[in-house]
Amino acid sequence: MAKLIIRGGRPLRGRVRVGGRKNSAVAVLPATLLADGVSTLENLPSIDDVRVYADILGGLGCDVQIATAASGNGTITVNPAGFSPLAVPHDVTKRLRASYYLLGVLLARCGRAEVPLPGGCDIGLRPIDQHLKGFRALGADVVIEHGMVRATAPALAGASIYLDVVSVGATINIMLAATLAEGTTVIENAAKEPHVVDLANYLNAAGARVQGAGTDVIRIRGVERLNGCTHSIIPDEIEAATYMIAAAATRGDVLVENVIPKHLDPVVAKLHEAGADIEEEGDVLRLKMNGRPRAVNVKTLPYPGFPTDAQQPMTVLLSLAEGTSIVTESIWESRFKHVDELKRMGTSIRVEGRTAIIEGVERLTGAPVRATDLRAGAALVVAALAAEGETEITGIELVDRGYERVLEKLNGLGADVAREE
Ligand code: EPZ
Repeated sequence: MAKLIIRGGRPLRGRVRVGGRKNSAVAVLPATLLADGVSTLENLPSIDDVRVYADILGGLGCDVQIATAASGNGTITVNPAGFSPLAVPHDVTKRLRASYYLLGVLLARCGRAEVPLPGGCDIGLRPIDQHLKGFRALGADVVIEHGMVRATAPALAGASIYLDVVSVGATINIMLAATLAEGTTVIENAAKEPHVVDLANYLNAAGARVQGAGTDVIRIRGVERLNGCTHSIIPDEIEAATYMIAAAATRGDVLVENVIPKHLDPVVAKLHEAGADIEEEGDVLRLKMNGRPRAVNVKTLPYPGFPTDAQQPMTVLLSLAEGTSIVTESIWESRFKHVDELKRMGTSIRVEGRTAIIEGVERLTGAPVRATDLRAGAALVVAALAAEGETEITGIELVDRGYERVLEKLNGLGADVAREE
């Protein structure tokens, strides 16, 4: 088990460059299997989830070349010429939630898919019924047996699909499956997250005909084949949000570079309400925080609402605020596991179902804590940076899944962070 040892209490100051968006990268990487030619993906984050996906594509017979530029940005070239659908590496798919995108891709490409039910962060029930409903509407026969999803469809045909819940994963999976289907597919009540748009941009650059991504109605006119293309992954707004929240919690002054400010509107609005001073210039957001944060209420919602993936770090900032904040988690049923660990550091938070009632305290104190999921780990890092004394965070591999070069980036901002394997 790897751990981070953080000596807190230093305001973060300086510049940090955000990497490519994790949840976009893990959707576009499998989409490269739909193309007949070579795809080059730029601005990939250097995180474990990307490495696992690259392994999956390699295991399926693709030629995958990874290069890292001096800026730290990664580029992957995927040549699917040697692709063999029979070799799905079952062990790695369990480590990664987004392995479920192989279902849509393999169905479209080969007419059948056998993929283990996905793994990923333990944040409550994570059904995939809407994905399966979409595949069935496109004409697939889908069964779950022995922990595997088995789907077959000699030919997929376009259909109208109304999602019962706004699901990022189902929207993306149906888009992937429908790209090579015969006829037009319409997804209604679709997710509007920027990574849905990013995937549509990749697919369209490769020759697909996807319209409406970013709205709640997406139309996909099936095409016979896709070519490869070059595509740059959009910046990770959750990584950006995490650094901004950490800057606010440590009362620092940080320039967060390589962001699309619009994607951060809901987070910026809440940080502003909490007392942060935020300036936007091009693709840079500068956050300055003087004094103690103010209490604010936060409710997580699908985009363009406040993102659930920034909720856990945000509870840390609010635990230091003057007054009582109420945080309501409306996406996941069990996304307050970090709260028990935060209590060891002196927070005063009561969780009732999907609501956390946070009585702000004046200071946090370092303690040994354990990351239980990716964003819980990020929340503990924020808490440790703001706390007096030393915090040891175990389970840091979970953070490696979604945050690149954490040690280097934090120490570059003046933090005191060490790592032990
Ligand atoms: C994606 O998960 C992200 N993961 C999650 O990021 C993120 O929290 C989530 O979207 C919401 O933004 C990836 O992109 C790999 P959903 P996903 O389908 O697609 C319910 C992180 O920390 N639902 O949008 O699995 C579901 O239970 C992670 O980076 C169904 O009921 O989420 C949830 O309440 C964690 N049936 C809601 O919809 C379904 O078939 C939204 O889930 C699918 C989902």
